[in-house]
Amino acid sequence: MRILGFESSCDETGVALVDASGPGVPRLLGHALHSQIEMHQAYGGVVPELASRDHIRRVLPLTEAVLAQAGLPLGDVDAIAYTRGPGLAGALLVGAGVAVSLAMALGKPVHGIHHLEGHLLSPFLSADPPEFPFVALLVSGGHTQLMRVDGVGRYDLLGETIDDAAGEAFDKSAKLLGLGYPGGPALARLAGQGDALAYRFPRPMLHSGDLDFSFAGLKTAVLTQVKRLAHARPEGPATSHLADPLTEQQKTDVAASAQAAIVEVLVKKSLAALKTTGLRRLVVAGGVGANALLRQQLDAACARAGVRVHYPELHLCTDNGAMIALAAGLRAQAGLLDTAAGAAYRFDVRPRWPLADLEPASI
Ligand code: KG4
Ligand code: ZN
Repeated sequence: MRILGFESSCDETGVALVDASGPGVPRLLGHALHSQIEMHQAYGGVVPELASRDHIRRVLPLTEAVLAQAGLPLGDVDAIAYTRGPGLAGALLVGAGVAVSLAMALGKPVHGIHHLEGHLLSPFLSADPPEFPFVALLVSGGHTQLMRVDGVGRYDLLGETIDDAAGEAFDKSAKLLGLGYPGGPALARLAGQGDALAYRFPRPMLHSGDLDFSFAGLKTAVLTQVKRLAHARPEGPATSHLADPLTEQQKTDVAASAQAAIVEVLVKKSLAALKTTGLRRLVVAGGVGANALLRQQLDAACARAGVRVHYPELHLCTDNGAMIALAAGLRAQAGLLDTAAGAAYRFDVRPRWPLADLEPASI
């Protein structure tokens, strides 16, 4: 059973082929990715219409590259999967349209996959795949959630952000410091040289007694701090950017302090979720899962608590096609793919789609 997967929910076009025959974890046969970061950089963020147009340009050449890597013709593909949501509507429609057209031409089934399920299951492609059940910390640009995962399709929400996502907190803090898009990796790079104790930013909802998060206040605290520092400089407030008058040291210290606040909340809430559920395994997924400080602090905290922690391979933390093909493969192995529905060649996309609304066998 070979499954070709398409990801086009935001600013990455991803295509991948997995082999889900047999009982083991599906094997990655080929994987190609085009990131639109450079194109959107000039605008300081993702421009949805440009994203859709670029997905159209990239998707077929990437598909050819994946088949060439795998050394297989298109006719050897047994099923097709695509990201059905959540994401940008126009961008999702590109992947969905291409996937359904290819499936129809080949007479093979096609399945719409939940983007967050892809992230959640992506550590199964790593050298150290997890076993069910586990707690998942899903930290992406749009989502921050703690889930209890008992098996493929069996996801219970334990807590989530009530406002900004962790990735957004990274991105917005980075923007306030005049760093480029995407802000997360840029802020993390700068933070590496800074003093995390220089400024005391809030740790929102750390002691709320539940497993929810809130990051909107952190952005305001960073803004207030940057303004205070800018006004205290002899040059006065900003000329072109608010953070311009800050010294490099001040910027690195603000970055380090902001990163420390985000990471501390994510680590403590993850540990609280493990305690509440009594589970002894943690899976981290989504773009922020690439953050080195988060990995380092989770590793240390989990080692102290006797908990195993699993991450996706670094290059599979952010959006990619492999996680979509993999999710379809794991669903197929679990008997959760409805092949009759998959052969109907009707499709829609779901720009807003809570993971909790995902019926175990609805795809
Ligand atoms: O999962 P993802 O690629 O896309 C969504 O589904 O949202 O996550 C993107 C997010 C962005 O907010 C980006 O700034 C953040 O992940 N990110 C990071 C790092 N790498 C990506 N944040 C902190 N440190 C990183 N190294
Ligand atoms: Zn994502």
